[in-house]
Formats: sequence, structure tokens, C-alpha cells
Amino acid sequence: MDDTTFDTTDRTEGETFWERHYRAHDRVWSGNANRYLVAFAAPLAPGTALDLGCAEGADAIWLAGLGWRVTAVDVSATALSRAADHAAAAGVADRIDFQRHDLSVTFPDGAFDLVSAQYLQSPVAFPRDQVLRDAAARVAPGGLLLIVTHASVAPWSWDQDPHPGFPAPEEALATLDLTPGQWRTEFLGASDREATGPNGQTALVRDTVIAVRRLTG
Ligand SMILES: C[S@@+](CC[C@H](N)C(=O)[O-])C[C@H]1O[C@@H](n2cnc3c(N)ncnc32)[C@H](O)[C@@H]1O
Repeated sequence: MDDTTFDTTDRTEGETFWERHYRAHDRVWSGNANRYLVAFAAPLAPGTALDLGCAEGADAIWLAGLGWRVTAVDVSATALSRAADHAAAAGVADRIDFQRHDLSVTFPDGAFDLVSAQYLQSPVAFPRDQVLRDAAARVAPGGLLLIVTHASVAPWSWDQDPHPGFPAPEEALATLDLTPGQWRTEFLGASDREATGPNGQTALVRDTVIAVRRLTG
């Protein structure tokens, strides 16, 4: 994939980048729900969920299969179209509302019992801290905000330039600007896992995981 021609300072190129990425591959992701989502959401009673950067729909479909009503968002129309097809094939299309947003510009309405941002990261300019603060604002009282972030560069990542480093979990949590007393931290930390790359190669990678529950409005 040649993405080196993108001007990484131009935020409006996010949609172009991700559309090109999805169109270049018949299928980008495994189709399996993310492990941290499974770990944190499986014990919860189904309610309403917001999946930010839903890609080809695996997480939204998994949640819908458990009875959640899901709003699933991505900037790529191609990814959303595939996600909708997969949801229909899984028999859960009626429980997922797929919406296209560039989250740096527009955001879905409503309040949700679960807001999930799994690897909502982009190699082009993306105001991620602000988007994650907007995500926190969409969590209903009693609801859970789950943010999982790459915290290392996999050998197959497109981002092999010298990296400025990744914020510690505590720093990542601080950027959310959560109002003290309104939230309870349920999990905050780094977690290592063996990941599989596009050609079947494996490597140990690190994630930062934030799970915080809104106690009050
Ligand atoms: C690294 S992928 C992660 C996908 C999926 N959540 C997962 O864990 O497999 C990031 C996803 O966020 C989407 N995305 C990137 N920038 C976005 C933006 N500004 N607004 C909405 N979605 C965006 C991309 O299209 C892509 O599907």
C-alpha cells in the first residue's frame, strides 16, 4: 500500500486515506471481536452501545448478537458497507445502526451504556484526544467507556518512522479530562499480547486499556 503521498497535516484526508485502505483489500480485519471488548462487555447486561471506528463490523456484530442495540460509526463508506453485509449475514442487522461520520467533524447523537473505541487511531491527522473526550460525553450515567490503544509499533505497521513514544496509561486517562467524582476507573494499564500480521507473522505488541464507568451525569 502506498500511503506515503498523503499530507499528514491535512485532517480532511482521513476519509480519503481510509477509503483507499479498505478498497485496496477485500477484507482488512479478522472478523473476530476485539479481546478487550469481549472481556469487559461479556459480563454486562445488554443495553445501548456506541462503537467508534467500527471498521468491518466485528465488534458491533458481536455485541448485537448478545442483544445490544449498537450504533456503529466509521469514516469509510466501504468499511460500513461491508459491516452492514456481515451484520445481515449474522442476522443482527436490525440491532445495528451504521452511521458514517468523520468523528473530527460530526458525532452520533445520544447517550450509551457502553462506548467503545478499539484502536481508534489513524496515520493521518486526527484530533484523537478531542474525539475521545467527545466519546466520554456520550456515556450514559452508569455506563462504561472502554478505550484500547496501540502502545507499541508492530513490525508490520505502516508507522515505522521513529516514534515519539506512547503516553503512559495514566497520561492517556488524564487527556480525557474526566470530571473528578463523576467516574470510577475499573481498569487502567498496559497489556501485552501476541498479534498476527498481514502475512501470518507474529509479534508481541502492547496495548493501553482504559475502562472507566460514569457514576453520575
Ligand atoms: C486502526 S482501525 C481499528 C478498527 C477496529 N476498531 C478494530 O479494532 O479492528 C481504525 C478505524 O477507525 C476509522 N477511522 C479513522 N479515522 C476516523 C475518523 N476521523 N472518523 C471515524 N472513523 C475513523 C477507520 O476507518 C478504521 O476503520
